[in-house]
Amino acid sequence: MEIHVITLFPEMFESPFRTGMIGRAIEQGLIVLKTHPLREFGLGNYRQVDDAPYGGGSGMVMRPEPIADAIDTVNAQCPGLWRVLMTPQGEVFDQAIAREFVGHAPGLMIIAGRYEGIDERVRALVDQEISIGDYVLSGGELPAMVVIEAVGRLIPGVLGNPESLDEESFAAGLLEYPQYTRPDEFRGMRVPDILLGGDHGKIREWRAAESRRRTARRRPDLLERRRP
Ligand code: ADE
Repeated sequence: MEIHVITLFPEMFESPFRTGMIGRAIEQGLIVLKTHPLREFGLGNYRQVDDAPYGGGSGMVMRPEPIADAIDTVNAQCPGLWRVLMTPQGEVFDQAIAREFVGHAPGLMIIAGRYEGIDERVRALVDQEISIGDYVLSGGELPAMVVIEAVGRLIPGVLGNPESLDEESFAAGLLEYPQYTRPDEFRGMRVPDILLGGDHGKIREWRAAESRRRTARRRPDLLERRRP
């Protein structure tokens, strides 16, 4: 899968994706991650990418032309990418959207905005606007990384143990059941007896029940949204 990111800060993407699961997937060629420096598409000698807002107000607004040129250039290199604009005004990202994104061949073009805002006309150039949650960051770079990590681990072959993906999709829409490892007693807290026995049917039932109970208590909204 190809993932292209248009950003003013390509260096932000280096260290996070050099290591770990995504780093390995890039080395193996399962993911091709390319950053495209927006500054190179800036206007004039100063490579300007933003300007004062029409109508006045504080802060600067990103101009549409550099972003449009960057999108056209990436599109010429790799046609057919699903274009995603990171913005706090977008649809809130979740596991279902991550799964949809893995299905977009040949991949994704992610536009990470910066500064106080982006010219409204940029919205016409993308397929989807995505927020990672109801809070405002100073740029779309970290949100883009969140999307890349969540989507990347769903690409076949990226996770070392594909069973954990099966388990995740089995429990789709529920919080995970409690996990324990050794020791069986820690500071007076014991591992539930059922996990120490070897009855795998009972363990499966216990885990499913805990998963539902935990979701009902902590995130009832997830149960309501869940498909039957
Ligand atoms: N840019 C700034 N804040 C953001 C958010 N919460 N999600 C996506 N992009 C953003």
